[in-house]
Amino acid sequence: MESNLTEKDITLIRESIKSKYSQVAAAGAASCFRYPTGLEGLKQQGYPLDLLRDFPAALIDSFCGVGNPFSLGPIHPGDAVLDIGCGAGLDSLLAAKMAGPEGRVAGVDVTQAMIDKAKANLSVLGLTNVTFQLAEAESLPFPDNEFDAVISNGVFNLTLDKEKALLEAHRVLKPGGRLMLADMVLVAELPPDKAGKIENWYQ
Ligand SMILES: C[S@@+](CC[C@H](N)C(=O)[O-])C[C@H]1O[C@@H](n2cnc3c(N)ncnc32)[C@H](O)[C@@H]1O
Repeated sequence: MESNLTEKDITLIRESIKSKYSQVAAAGAASCFRYPTGLEGLKQQGYPLDLLRDFPAALIDSFCGVGNPFSLGPIHPGDAVLDIGCGAGLDSLLAAKMAGPEGRVAGVDVTQAMIDKAKANLSVLGLTNVTFQLAEAESLPFPDNEFDAVISNGVFNLTLDKEKALLEAHRVLKPGGRLMLADMVLVAELPPDKAGKIENWYQ
């Protein structure tokens, strides 16, 4: 798919995304978004709060997903799961509980501060079937046919090459694997004062 983005646009978007999500990692999601985040977001999106009971406050407070990928289908015991744009790790760690000790979860994100926070949250919970690493949705560091399920929450709208990101998700899924993706889409033309403004990509 053709992109109208210049190299300057791409650099600006990349740096702005990392800067915004480094702030969220440091201070939590409250007041950073126009939709409910943290515990309120989890309640409104119908997350199974009983499974989140031992999750630390720092993990709950950093949740900034826009929906609930788990509402699209179950994670089965023993599943291998990839969480693209894992943030501070809430969906990854929930998926790990659902997949159980026979399953495994990998979380990737482009923001180092988020990966550091996800690793800190993992060590509090003491789960041994989860890894977090720095990586881009458009270039996943995994072999073909690796995962039973790919989940993602509020990330694809930020990716610079959406077609490439979807192809990557498809590549790493096993045949018959499930893509369970929550995201935001435009349902109408942007007003003229907003259309074409590069800042709208990451605000
Ligand atoms: C709205 S937050 C959602 C975080 C997490 N999924 C959650 O539900 O709390 C978006 C996340 O996507 C990450 N991100 C943005 N662009 C990305 C890309 N191209 N590849 C991987 N992660 C990306 C950001 O660093 C940020 O942590």
